[in-house]
Amino acid sequence: MAAMKTLLPAGLVVLGLAAAVFTSASLLEASAAPAESRIEQSGMELRPAADFANIANTRARSIALFQEAGRVITSPRCLNCHPATERPLQGDDMHPHEPPVKRGAGGMGMPGMRCLTCHGAANFDPGRVPGNPRWLLAPPEMAWAGKSLKQICVQIKDPHLNGGKSMQDLIEHMAHDQLVGWGWNPGAGRTPAPGTQEEFGNLIQAWADAGAQCPTK
Ligand code: HEC
Ligand code: HEC
Repeated sequence: MAAMKTLLPAGLVVLGLAAAVFTSASLLEASAAPAESRIEQSGMELRPAADFANIANTRARSIALFQEAGRVITSPRCLNCHPATERPLQGDDMHPHEPPVKRGAGGMGMPGMRCLTCHGAANFDPGRVPGNPRWLLAPPEMAWAGKSLKQICVQIKDPHLNGGKSMQDLIEHMAHDQLVGWGWNPGAGRTPAPGTQEEFGNLIQAWADAGAQCPTK
């Protein structure tokens, strides 16, 4: 019983029922295409940072590195939680979150519809519910969805918009933050972000080392 409780906090039990209703259609879809084969099909590898060393022009090298890292940044795994509106997005097709939920105070949802009511500390695959101990929405000034890579690049470098992060903080966050890391372990029915978090962190580090230049569009 104690073990059950750890695995299934009250919110998740309620959610189990809710999720069954919300996701029955997507469950069918997911069982037809197991997560593993999706990963193989997508062939989503990241080029290692060392691949870019032969670009002699430092600015061009920096931009190329950010463009490769941008394949992670603009993946549904990141954009769904950095949406343009008050409502998160869901799934590889980035549809609006069902049920409709709003950011609320501190990105944690509205009273009665808190993110943690449904999202547990870990992915809950039977209900297809993604989870993390800190599951909350990125603040409006960190919205990425619908923006160009240039706009996102300029924005994440700006301490007024990125939560007061220095370049070192930003690299650390990309390379080691465990909510960012969820992107490579997103649970059943979702395509992981390309490559690995370590490779992504290395690209961001190399981008910064080459002057943290932003793409021109
Ligand atoms: C569950 C929601 C969620 C997911 C998924 C998520 N983020 Fe975030 N992100 C946040 C929140 C919340 C913040 C605000 C800072 C904090 O509280 O950690 C944030 C902030 C950031 C920042 C700080 C700078 C800025 O301007 O945005 C970066 C960089 C970032 N996230 C990268 C990523 C990347 C890369 C991914 C995908 C691999 C990702 N995030 C996925 C919620 C999320
Ligand atoms: C009533 C339950 C419920 C509440 C409350 C809820 N969610 Fe969800 N959320 C779900 C379910 C279920 C899914 C999975 C849907 C699917 O993929 O079939 C989901 C998926 C997501 C995803 C998609 C992840 C991806 O990349 O596909 C994000 C992002 C998300 N929720 C963010 C939030 C945030 C942020 C909050 C609070 C503001 C929140 N959710 C509140 C039930 C909920």
